[in-house]
Amino acid sequence: MKKILFTPLILAACLVSTGLAAAETPKPAAPMPAEMQNMMKVFTPEMRQKVMALSPELKGTIVKLHAGHPRRAKETNLRQIMHEILSEYQSIASAVATDNAEQAAEAARRLASHRIPKGGLLPYFPLDKVNDNDLGVLPAMNTAVEGSALKLAEAADAGNMALAASYMSDIMTGCVACHQKFRGVPGVSANLMTPMSK
Ligand code: HEC
Repeated sequence: MKKILFTPLILAACLVSTGLAAAETPKPAAPMPAEMQNMMKVFTPEMRQKVMALSPELKGTIVKLHAGHPRRAKETNLRQIMHEILSEYQSIASAVATDNAEQAAEAARRLASHRIPKGGLLPYFPLDKVNDNDLGVLPAMNTAVEGSALKLAEAADAGNMALAASYMSDIMTGCVACHQKFRGVPGVSANLMTPMSK
Protein backbone atom coordinates (compact mmCIF):
# COMPACT_ATOMS: atom_id res chain seq x y z
CA MET A 1 0.00 0.00 0.00
CA LYS A 2 2.71 2.36 1.11
CA LYS A 3 4.84 1.29 -1.86
CA ILE A 4 2.05 1.95 -4.35
CA LEU A 5 1.61 5.49 -3.12
CA PHE A 6 5.31 6.08 -2.79
CA THR A 7 6.45 4.98 -6.24
CA PRO A 8 4.95 7.80 -8.31
CA LEU A 9 6.30 10.31 -5.80
CA ILE A 10 9.79 8.86 -6.06
CA LEU A 11 9.57 8.83 -9.82
CA ALA A 12 8.56 12.46 -9.82
CA ALA A 13 11.37 13.29 -7.40
CA CYS A 14 13.91 11.47 -9.59
CA LEU A 15 12.76 13.27 -12.69
CA VAL A 16 12.99 16.64 -11.04
CA SER A 17 16.27 16.08 -9.24
CA THR A 18 18.10 14.69 -12.28
CA GLY A 19 16.60 17.20 -14.65
CA LEU A 20 15.41 14.33 -16.83
CA ALA A 21 11.93 15.81 -17.16
CA ALA A 22 13.33 18.52 -19.38
CA ALA A 23 16.02 16.44 -21.16
CA GLU A 24 15.48 14.58 -24.40
CA THR A 25 16.20 11.14 -22.92
CA PRO A 26 13.54 8.81 -24.28
CA LYS A 27 13.31 6.59 -21.18
CA PRO A 28 12.34 8.19 -17.89
CA ALA A 29 14.43 7.33 -14.81
CA ALA A 30 13.36 4.02 -13.31
CA PRO A 31 11.27 4.40 -10.19
CA MET A 32 13.40 3.77 -7.13
CA PRO A 33 11.84 1.24 -4.77
CA ALA A 34 11.02 2.79 -1.40
CA GLU A 35 13.39 0.64 0.64
CA MET A 36 16.33 1.38 -1.65
CA GLN A 37 15.49 5.04 -1.52
CA ASN A 38 15.82 4.83 2.24
CA MET A 39 19.10 2.93 2.16
CA MET A 40 20.53 5.38 -0.33
CA LYS A 41 20.25 8.21 2.15
CA VAL A 42 23.45 6.97 3.79
CA PHE A 43 25.34 6.30 0.52
CA THR A 44 28.08 8.57 -0.74
CA PRO A 45 27.13 10.59 -3.85
CA GLU A 46 29.32 8.26 -5.97
CA MET A 47 27.58 5.09 -4.78
CA ARG A 48 24.18 6.77 -5.07
CA GLN A 49 24.91 7.62 -8.70
CA LYS A 50 25.89 4.03 -9.47
CA VAL A 51 22.72 2.69 -7.89
CA MET A 52 20.52 5.22 -9.69
CA ALA A 53 22.01 4.05 -12.99
CA LEU A 54 20.95 0.40 -12.46
CA SER A 55 18.15 -0.93 -14.67
CA PRO A 56 14.64 -1.30 -13.25
CA GLU A 57 15.06 -5.10 -13.52
CA LEU A 58 18.24 -5.08 -11.47
CA LYS A 59 16.76 -2.73 -8.88
CA GLY A 60 13.86 -5.17 -8.64
CA THR A 61 16.32 -8.03 -8.14
CA ILE A 62 18.06 -6.22 -5.28
CA VAL A 63 14.75 -5.37 -3.64
CA LYS A 64 13.70 -9.02 -3.94
CA LEU A 65 16.97 -10.23 -2.42
CA HIS A 66 16.56 -7.84 0.47
CA ALA A 67 12.89 -8.79 0.88
CA GLY A 68 13.94 -12.43 1.18
CA HIS A 69 15.91 -11.39 4.28
CA PRO A 70 13.47 -9.41 6.41
CA ARG A 71 15.84 -9.05 9.37
CA ARG A 72 17.86 -5.83 9.24
CA ALA A 73 21.10 -5.11 11.09
CA LYS A 74 21.33 -1.79 12.90
CA GLU A 75 25.08 -1.26 12.87
CA THR A 76 26.57 -4.57 11.68
CA ASN A 77 28.52 -4.32 8.44
CA LEU A 78 28.80 -6.92 5.67
CA ARG A 79 32.14 -8.20 6.86
CA GLN A 80 30.76 -8.94 10.31
CA ILE A 81 27.67 -10.62 8.84
CA MET A 82 30.01 -12.71 6.68
CA HIS A 83 31.84 -13.89 9.80
CA GLU A 84 28.50 -14.89 11.30
CA ILE A 85 27.74 -16.82 8.13
CA LEU A 86 31.12 -18.55 8.36
CA SER A 87 30.32 -19.55 11.96
CA GLU A 88 27.04 -21.08 10.83
CA TYR A 89 28.85 -22.93 8.05
CA GLN A 90 31.32 -24.32 10.58
CA SER A 91 28.46 -25.30 12.84
CA ILE A 92 26.85 -27.20 9.94
CA ALA A 93 30.15 -28.98 9.24
CA SER A 94 30.49 -29.96 12.87
CA ALA A 95 26.87 -31.17 12.97
CA VAL A 96 27.22 -33.24 9.80
CA ALA A 97 30.45 -34.78 11.05
CA THR A 98 28.81 -35.77 14.34
CA ASP A 99 25.51 -36.93 12.83
CA ASN A 100 23.55 -34.18 14.61
CA ALA A 101 20.67 -33.56 12.22
CA GLU A 102 18.96 -30.93 14.34
CA GLN A 103 22.08 -28.81 14.73
CA ALA A 104 22.75 -29.07 10.99
CA ALA A 105 19.22 -28.03 10.04
CA GLU A 106 19.09 -25.13 12.48
CA ALA A 107 22.49 -23.74 11.56
CA ALA A 108 21.70 -24.06 7.84
CA ARG A 109 18.44 -22.14 8.26
CA ARG A 110 20.20 -19.45 10.28
CA LEU A 111 22.81 -19.18 7.52
CA ALA A 112 20.06 -18.74 4.92
CA SER A 113 18.24 -16.10 6.94
CA HIS A 114 21.15 -13.84 7.82
CA ARG A 115 20.50 -10.17 8.53
CA ILE A 116 21.01 -7.55 5.84
CA PRO A 117 23.94 -5.31 6.85
CA LYS A 118 23.62 -1.62 7.58
CA GLY A 119 22.89 0.19 4.32
CA GLY A 120 22.17 -3.07 2.42
CA LEU A 121 24.62 -5.12 0.39
CA LEU A 122 25.59 -2.68 -2.32
CA PRO A 123 27.73 -0.16 -0.42
CA TYR A 124 30.16 -2.93 0.53
CA PHE A 125 30.85 -3.84 -3.09
CA PRO A 126 33.58 -2.04 -5.06
CA LEU A 127 32.14 0.92 -6.99
CA ASP A 128 33.17 -0.54 -10.34
CA LYS A 129 31.14 -3.69 -9.64
CA VAL A 130 27.91 -1.80 -9.04
CA ASN A 131 26.48 -2.20 -12.53
CA ASP A 132 23.81 -4.36 -14.20
CA ASN A 133 26.28 -6.84 -15.58
CA ASP A 134 28.22 -7.68 -12.43
CA LEU A 135 25.30 -7.51 -10.01
CA GLY A 136 23.27 -9.71 -12.37
CA VAL A 137 25.02 -12.76 -10.88
CA LEU A 138 23.66 -12.15 -7.38
CA PRO A 139 20.52 -14.34 -7.67
CA ALA A 140 22.69 -17.26 -8.82
CA MET A 141 25.01 -16.76 -5.82
CA ASN A 142 22.01 -16.61 -3.56
CA THR A 143 20.65 -19.86 -4.95
CA ALA A 144 24.02 -21.58 -4.59
CA VAL A 145 24.56 -20.48 -0.99
CA GLU A 146 21.13 -20.13 0.56
CA GLY A 147 19.17 -22.44 -1.72
CA SER A 148 21.67 -25.21 -0.98
CA ALA A 149 21.62 -24.41 2.75
CA LEU A 150 17.83 -24.83 2.79
CA LYS A 151 18.11 -28.10 0.87
CA LEU A 152 20.73 -29.24 3.38
CA ALA A 153 18.30 -28.43 6.21
CA GLU A 154 15.57 -30.47 4.54
CA ALA A 155 17.90 -33.42 4.01
CA ALA A 156 18.94 -33.24 7.68
CA ASP A 157 15.29 -33.05 8.76
CA ALA A 158 14.68 -36.21 6.74
CA GLY A 159 17.63 -37.86 8.49
CA ASN A 160 19.60 -38.16 5.26
CA MET A 161 22.99 -36.93 6.46
CA ALA A 162 24.83 -38.22 3.39
CA LEU A 163 22.69 -36.00 1.18
CA ALA A 164 23.08 -33.12 3.65
CA ALA A 165 26.86 -33.52 3.47
CA SER A 166 26.77 -33.27 -0.31
CA TYR A 167 25.31 -29.75 -0.14
CA MET A 168 28.31 -28.44 1.81
CA SER A 169 30.33 -28.09 -1.36
CA ASP A 170 27.45 -26.42 -3.26
CA ILE A 171 27.26 -23.81 -0.51
CA MET A 172 31.02 -23.22 -0.52
CA THR A 173 31.08 -22.98 -4.32
CA GLY A 174 28.70 -20.02 -3.96
CA CYS A 175 30.87 -18.38 -1.28
CA VAL A 176 33.96 -18.71 -3.45
CA ALA A 177 32.26 -17.45 -6.63
CA CYS A 178 30.94 -14.34 -4.93
CA HIS A 179 34.27 -13.61 -3.27
CA GLN A 180 36.09 -13.90 -6.59
CA LYS A 181 33.83 -11.28 -8.04
CA PHE A 182 33.08 -8.86 -5.21
CA ARG A 183 35.46 -9.27 -2.31
CA GLY A 184 38.76 -7.83 -3.45
CA VAL A 185 41.87 -8.82 -1.47
CA PRO A 186 41.28 -8.67 2.28
CA GLY A 187 44.01 -8.03 4.81
CA VAL A 188 46.59 -6.44 2.55
CA SER A 189 49.32 -4.75 4.60
CA ALA A 190 50.46 -1.22 3.81
CA ASN A 191 53.77 -2.09 5.52
CA LEU A 192 54.93 -4.69 3.06
CA MET A 193 56.75 -4.04 -0.20
CA THR A 194 54.53 -4.67 -3.22
CA PRO A 195 55.62 -8.04 -4.63
CA MET A 196 57.21 -7.93 -8.10
CA SER A 197 54.96 -10.70 -9.30
CA LYS A 198 52.03 -12.54 -7.86
C1 HEC B 1 26.85 -11.94 -2.32
C2 HEC B 1 28.25 -12.22 -2.41
C3 HEC B 1 28.85 -13.05 -1.30
C4 HEC B 1 28.52 -14.33 -0.93
C5 HEC B 1 27.46 -15.23 -1.54
C6 HEC B 1 29.41 -14.67 0.16
N1 HEC B 1 30.24 -13.62 0.44
FE1 HEC B 1 31.57 -13.56 1.96
N2 HEC B 1 32.11 -11.66 1.40
C7 HEC B 1 31.55 -10.94 0.35
C8 HEC B 1 32.16 -9.62 0.30
C9 HEC B 1 31.82 -8.52 -0.71
C10 HEC B 1 33.10 -9.57 1.33
C11 HEC B 1 34.02 -8.39 1.72
C12 HEC B 1 33.28 -7.54 2.72
C13 HEC B 1 34.11 -6.43 3.27
O1 HEC B 1 35.30 -6.62 3.53
O2 HEC B 1 33.53 -5.34 3.48
C14 HEC B 1 33.05 -10.87 2.00
C15 HEC B 1 33.82 -11.21 3.10
C16 HEC B 1 33.76 -12.42 3.78
C17 HEC B 1 34.49 -12.71 5.01
C18 HEC B 1 35.38 -11.74 5.77
C19 HEC B 1 36.83 -12.09 5.70
C20 HEC B 1 37.39 -12.03 4.32
O3 HEC B 1 38.10 -12.95 3.95
O4 HEC B 1 37.12 -11.08 3.57
C21 HEC B 1 34.15 -13.99 5.36
C22 HEC B 1 34.65 -14.76 6.58
C23 HEC B 1 33.21 -14.50 4.39
N3 HEC B 1 32.99 -13.50 3.45
C24 HEC B 1 32.63 -15.75 4.43
C25 HEC B 1 31.67 -16.19 3.51
C26 HEC B 1 31.10 -17.53 3.52
C27 HEC B 1 31.49 -18.65 4.47
C28 HEC B 1 30.19 -17.56 2.51
C29 HEC B 1 29.33 -18.69 2.04
C30 HEC B 1 28.60 -19.45 3.06
C31 HEC B 1 30.19 -16.23 1.88
N4 HEC B 1 31.11 -15.46 2.52
C32 HEC B 1 29.39 -15.90 0.82
C33 HEC B 1 30.58 -11.38 -0.51
C34 HEC B 1 29.95 -12.61 -0.43
